Amino acid sequence: MPLRIAVIPGDGIGPEVARAGVRLLERLSALRGLGLEFDWFDFGADRYLRDGTILPDGFMDRLRREYAAVYFGAVGDPRVPGNEHAKGILLAMRFELDLYINLRPCRLLDDRLSPLKGKGRKELDFIVLRENTEGLYTGTGGVFKKGTSEEIAQEVEINTRKGVERSCEAAFAVAAANGKRRVCMADKANVLLHGHGLWRRVFAEVSKKHPEIEAKAVYVDALAMDLVRAPEVYQVIVTNNLFGDILTDLGAALTGGLGLAASGNIHPGQVSLFEPVHGSAPDIAGKGQANPLAMALSGALMLRHLGFDAEGDLVEEAVRLQVVDGAHTPDLVPALGGSAASTEEVAAQLLERLEALVSRSKVQP
Ligand code: NAD
Ligand code: IPM
Ligand code: MN
Repeated sequence: MPLRIAVIPGDGIGPEVARAGVRLLERLSALRGLGLEFDWFDFGADRYLRDGTILPDGFMDRLRREYAAVYFGAVGDPRVPGNEHAKGILLAMRFELDLYINLRPCRLLDDRLSPLKGKGRKELDFIVLRENTEGLYTGTGGVFKKGTSEEIAQEVEINTRKGVERSCEAAFAVAAANGKRRVCMADKANVLLHGHGLWRRVFAEVSKKHPEIEAKAVYVDALAMDLVRAPEVYQVIVTNNLFGDILTDLGAALTGGLGLAASGNIHPGQVSLFEPVHGSAPDIAGKGQANPLAMALSGALMLRHLGFDAEGDLVEEAVRLQVVDGAHTPDLVPALGGSAASTEEVAAQLLERLEALVSRSKVQP
């Protein structure tokens, strides 16, 4: 049975890294008989500006019916300053496909990439689970008396018991599946008494069901400090949509930068979306400077979601080896030294590395 993957490269560097990622997965699929098939869709700023299409009617149903996963580049374009197409593409898929788990591993691949004195691979290895369907992201709210001196702008934070509970449950499941023993929930319950009070109560309830895992609730400001001061304390962090967005850029900075940060937008057992944490990077788009490794690592998360754990391991190992002794794009030069290579050069080396690992692999497909 072929497993169909919808590829949405999007804007800016999205297509550059998507090409590299798909080529890698196509090769892996051929070598290991995975049966992956890739269909490309041109949704993004160009299409939106050309004919007004954000996503066509019925697209979500089509994804549910025909696709196992979405492999996504990035959206965002200076020609669309209101970012409405990005909301209508990416956020719409997160919401309408109910991809409530935004899984963002923050793992250092090489000690030289650490920006923290004395903290290396052993210390920098945590997973953030960001609630992905509610919080401050639902667009609930409005503007009153717009443009006047009495203007009121309101953004409502939505926290539902169902949403909080399934996120907390997922955090404990992720901990168990990854051999982690600690889960930390980050909120601002000292100020946001209602919504984050709910997070506190639900987290306490859920943690009682998992006595084998140490559970702790922390304030997000203290956590932001602590992630820099003592990152080794953290193994799994669960938090709301906005805090998760911010903490995972911090997590990326601690583990080699956005060029290496991968994510999954997941509803277990259903079509899910895999994308790098980074955006469309208009500052480097079209220059061949984009690091394709975050996209490749997002592909590894996708492989795991599809049940191809051994292949996910192979891709992750190929990326690690590429970082350790391969060519690298300009973003990694300050940490790794040497001269900068292009997206294409890194992608080609990564492909060779993966082929070599596959041919040596003892795990049968
Ligand atoms: P960004 O992630 O696009 O870029 C931030 C910085 O990181 C830039 O200097 C960029 O050059 C660098 N960078 C990002 N990815 C890189 C890569 N793979 N290799 C090397 N360097 C990389 O964030 P931004 O500049 O704040 O946003 C640009 C646009 O992207 C905005 O429209 C924003 O809304 C959008 N965005 C989209 C997503 C997404 O699609 N998931 C995520 C974040 C931002
Ligand atoms: C991310 C991005 C998105 C978010 C934007 C582009 C809507 O920053 O995936 O981290 O805020 O979730
Ligand atoms: Mn973000």
